[in-house]
Formats: sequence, C-alpha cells, structure tokens
Amino acid sequence: MDPEPLKVLAGELPSDVRQILYRHPAEAPAVLREAFGEYAAAAEARIDAAPRVTSSLHATIGEVETPQCLHEIVHGDCFEWLQQRAQDSIHAIVTDPPYGLKEYTSVEKGKLRRGRGGVWRIPPTFDGCTRRPLPRFTVLTEEDKLALKDFFARWALRAYRVLVPGGHVFIATNPLVSHYVYMALIDAGFEKRGEIIRLVQTLRGGDRPKNAHREFGGITVMPRSGWEPWGLFRKPCEGRVQDNLRKWKAGGLRRISQDQPFCDVIRSAPTRGIEREIAPHPSLKPQAFMRQVVRASLPLGEGIVLDPFMGGGSTIAAATAVGYQSIGIESDREFYEIAVAAVPRLAALAPNGDGNGSSWLSRSARDSEQPALFGQ
Ligand SMILES: C[S@@+](CC[C@H](N)C(=O)[O-])C[C@H]1O[C@@H](n2cnc3c(N)ncnc32)[C@H](O)[C@@H]1O
Repeated sequence: MDPEPLKVLAGELPSDVRQILYRHPAEAPAVLREAFGEYAAAAEARIDAAPRVTSSLHATIGEVETPQCLHEIVHGDCFEWLQQRAQDSIHAIVTDPPYGLKEYTSVEKGKLRRGRGGVWRIPPTFDGCTRRPLPRFTVLTEEDKLALKDFFARWALRAYRVLVPGGHVFIATNPLVSHYVYMALIDAGFEKRGEIIRLVQTLRGGDRPKNAHREFGGITVMPRSGWEPWGLFRKPCEGRVQDNLRKWKAGGLRRISQDQPFCDVIRSAPTRGIEREIAPHPSLKPQAFMRQVVRASLPLGEGIVLDPFMGGGSTIAAATAVGYQSIGIESDREFYEIAVAAVPRLAALAPNGDGNGSSWLSRSARDSEQPALFGQ
C-alpha cells in the first residue's frame, strides 16, 4: 500500500490519530472510511441505473436463494404513517433515527448537499477524494435536548401502538443522547431488554482541548469511541412468552443456531465502499451488521420488520437478504430514491469478502446457515 496519501492526511490530524494511522496502516483505510467516508450527493453518485422494482423473484446471495420482492418502500413522514397504520400489525422495528434532529432538516440537508457545512462537519478534500460529512452531536443546547425528548416521546407512543405484543425495537443511538431516547420508550410502555453493542472503530472523541492541545498534551476531552449502542426494547407480552409467540409470532429473539443464542456484542467493520457506492447516504449502516440484527428481530422468521427512518435502505436490504418482509419509510425524496434503487442491490450483495466481522461466530454457527448471509 502506498503510505504517502496517509502521511499527507496525517498532517491534518491530531497527533494521536496520526499515530494510529502510522502504527496500523492495514486498518487505517477502514477507520478513515468510517470517519470521513465517500459520501457524494446522489446526483454525483457513480451508480449504474438500477430497476426501481425488480421483476426477478429471486436473487442469489452466496449460495442462498432469497426472494427479493418482500419489501415496501414509502416516501413520507413516519409519524403520519404510524398514525394511520393498523394497531398490532408490525412485528419488529429496527431503526437508526436522526439525532441532532437539526441534521436532517431541509436547511441543513441543503448545506450538506452544497458542501457548505452547517451542522455537518465537512472534512477537507484530500488527494482528490471526497470524504463523508459527519453530523456534530456534541453540542446540544437545552432547547435541542427538549426537542429531542419531545420527538422521541411522540415517536415512541406511535411505535408502541403499531407493534404486536412482544414486538422488539432495536434503535441505534450514541452514548451522548441514548438516555433521552431510552426514557421516552420506557415512558411509552416499552420494557428495556438490553443494549446491543456494535463494536466499531471510529475517529469520534479522543481530542485534546481545542486551542490548548500543547498545554494539556496528556488530556483527552472525551474517550475515543469504539462502540455504538443500539437500545433493545419490547412491547410487553400477553401472558407467557410461549403463548405470545404462538399468538403474535413475537416475544423473543431468533437464535443464531441451536447452540448459539443471539449475543449483545457484535464486532462490526465500517460500511464497505461498495455499499456506500450503491447507497450514497451519509449514515449508511453495513449489511454485515444489519443482517445479524434484523434476523434476530423476528423470532420465528415470520411477520414484518419496519424501519421508519429508512435512509439509504440498509435495514430493508438486510431484511430482504434474510428473507423477511419489511417496510421502510423515508421523508426525504432524494434518500427515498436512493433506497428504491439500492435495496435490491444491497440485498443481493455477496457476503463480505474483506473480513468484516469475521470472528464473532462459533465454528458450529459458521457451519450452519449464517455464513452465506453475513460473510463469516
Ligand atoms: C440516520 S438516517 C438513517 C440511515 C439508515 N440507517 C441507513 O443505513 O441508510 C435517518 C433518516 O431518517 C430520515 N427521517 C428524518 N425524519 C423522518 C421522518 N419524520 N419520517 C421518515 N424519515 C425521516 C432522514 O431523512 C434520514 O435519511
């Protein structure tokens, strides 16, 4: 690998980040992708034209034949959609909502698409490559916090109504704001069932005090983040879990295999370049991780998975890949169009061939049905 571009970039970075890049050249590209990515506006995306609705009934994923037309993709506001949806008609929600809340307003998305910054941190263009902007979550005012609490309180009540008893919610968050989201879900009636820890190396945190980094060279203001929390919640079951499973097909989580339960720590690499190219959304989650979470969300593999904040469609693609029915809602037309084109192509991607998340499964599980789906 040519180390020169990294050295140039290293000149722009804090010294501890620089050291990581020098000491771990093999991992550096993946870490940089997670931090800066390759986001480009949809108009500029280098994507082959993909059919909006696939006419083929099956796609080959590794050696697994998976039906493709299992999903419904809606352009709209999920609050309105949830309000109109029948009660007790969704079996699981897997979602990654907006957090700064500001970052997905039309004003901020306009700035993002024009490369003007705003709440989005636009990294400098380096070596001719465009890197992925990141929203800034660190500075939330009291007003922002109130808005966040109110947003999730209203959302949680609507989500609760449409989920069947025993239905689970997997909700991506971050350590700075997770408590607001979790309390809103609990106040709406959900039981907290745990947290899934996505172990992923990022460049968030780990900085010395701004403009005083020489004076306080031994200080980090916030820990360098190496994980992403996903809250796990459940609408209470009607009676015993087994009765609820029989009646509603929900209440538990699908095991990885007969001898391996679903685990709450999942090693995950940053989203691969090929996935970002297919679905150029600034917050796209990796298929290798999403397929594991989505698969666990329907204990019997029956029912409907909903992603009300669909973005580029990673949840819906994962559901299609594991053979589940799903519905995705996206309020932004450009992201909606990206998802319509991307979902069949992401779902049909072969398992990761680059070692993404390769070591978390036991030998027995690797020998079972998982490898073809998750790339182990
Ligand atoms: C963090 S992103 C989701 C990214 C997604 N997990 C992926 O892998 O591409 C959140 C998405 O929610 C959308 N959104 C925000 N408010 C919404 C609403 N009220 N209804 C539907 N979608 C909304 C945003 O436009 C954004 O694309």
